[in-house]
Amino acid sequence: MRIVIKNGIVIDGFGGEEKADIFINYGIIKGIDKNIDVSDAIVIDAEGKYVLPGFVDMHTHLRQPGFEEKETIKTGTESAAAGGFTTVACMPNTNPPIDSEVVVEYVKAVAQREGVVKVLPIGAMTKGMKGEEITEMAKLKKAGVVALSDDGFPIMSAGIMKRVMTYGKMYDLLMITHCEDKTLSGEGVMNSGIIATMLGLKGIPREAEEVMLARNIILAKATGAKLHIAHVSTKGSVELIRRAKEEGVSITAEVTPHHLTLTDEAVYNYDTNTKVFPPLRTREDVEALIEGLKDGTIDAIATDHAPHTKDDKKVPYDMAPFGISGLETAFSVINTFLVQTGIITMKALVNYMSMNPARILGISNGIRVGATADIVIVNPHEEYTVDKEKFKSKGKNTPYHGMKLKGVVEYTIVEGQIRYQKNKKFEKVEI
Ligand code: NCD
Ligand code: ZN
Repeated sequence: MRIVIKNGIVIDGFGGEEKADIFINYGIIKGIDKNIDVSDAIVIDAEGKYVLPGFVDMHTHLRQPGFEEKETIKTGTESAAAGGFTTVACMPNTNPPIDSEVVVEYVKAVAQREGVVKVLPIGAMTKGMKGEEITEMAKLKKAGVVALSDDGFPIMSAGIMKRVMTYGKMYDLLMITHCEDKTLSGEGVMNSGIIATMLGLKGIPREAEEVMLARNIILAKATGAKLHIAHVSTKGSVELIRRAKEEGVSITAEVTPHHLTLTDEAVYNYDTNTKVFPPLRTREDVEALIEGLKDGTIDAIATDHAPHTKDDKKVPYDMAPFGISGLETAFSVINTFLVQTGIITMKALVNYMSMNPARILGISNGIRVGATADIVIVNPHEEYTVDKEKFKSKGKNTPYHGMKLKGVVEYTIVEGQIRYQKNKKFEKVEI
């Protein structure tokens, strides 16, 4: 397939931003120039739109195997494509968890057959994600995991975590940790504070995150492991990561669109779609997270796409599972609240959503001649109202439903194949 993208504002991910045409030939970017004309190519008019390196989500729950009623690799990657993502790294808290080569092979095979964007499996740190016995990391790495994580099931024993990191370092695997001390989060369902008290809901204190984060930083220092902090949510966490970076610890961090834009005030109506781990915090935390992004303490924006069924969420707040379906609103949420308000530039958005997550995962990305054509075309000015029923994801659990947002994904191109086009139905066919 040959594609020419005409007249878009190209942000290449390497510092460049200019109006140009892009020529894609059989999956590879062959030209970036003014006025490219090629016979028998599909022409996409991108006048007034941005042409960006495909977004990379380093924290997605695809739910397959085991929880196909919540999401499948097919629906999850369709959701990713609709959100402008060309690659997603999927978390191992499936059933069975991604804790052995066979499950890695299974996820890769299904993704190859049914996935519409690239899928990079993340392996479990411990067998069954039980926090007791470490996985066979050499085998997991050979099978193709890009990182290891305990996401959803934090490892409570410091001794086990140290072993995980020691071996992880040996196999040069990225350690993605969900920082939560269960003895502090307990039965909590939302941020500890005045609103939890008013609503009569049990709180999750910020210390639950910060204590575990501090422990993990200390263990990363001791072992030399490459540490990545999942879904940072508090001001204190930003400060701990900032200090660790100053000390030269090998550490990176991500923040979600919802933690950057919502607070525990969103829980007022007991909408279970606001129930997420870590919980939505306070205005002061949101400001610290934005500051952390801007000064480079936080490297990436990741969705933590955690789809659940309507029935799962149609229960009292206490009983509902944690999680927000985030792939299809990530770009517009960040564009609306941070770019259009002048807090960050579109170039910075590209760093947080495309280039930095790719770098942390060790994959290449960016628009240059000779590179794989993983590209997203967005209209940053178009306004729309979020309608969860229109999500490709099976997870309709979004706190943004009904909200007016700015920024629409027009096309998602993965390895030179158009995998999403606004208002168009798609079947996966290779051309
Ligand atoms: C995640 C899930 O549902 O798998 N939920 C969430 O609220 N983030 C697990 C997790 O990341 O803790
Ligand atoms: Zn988590």
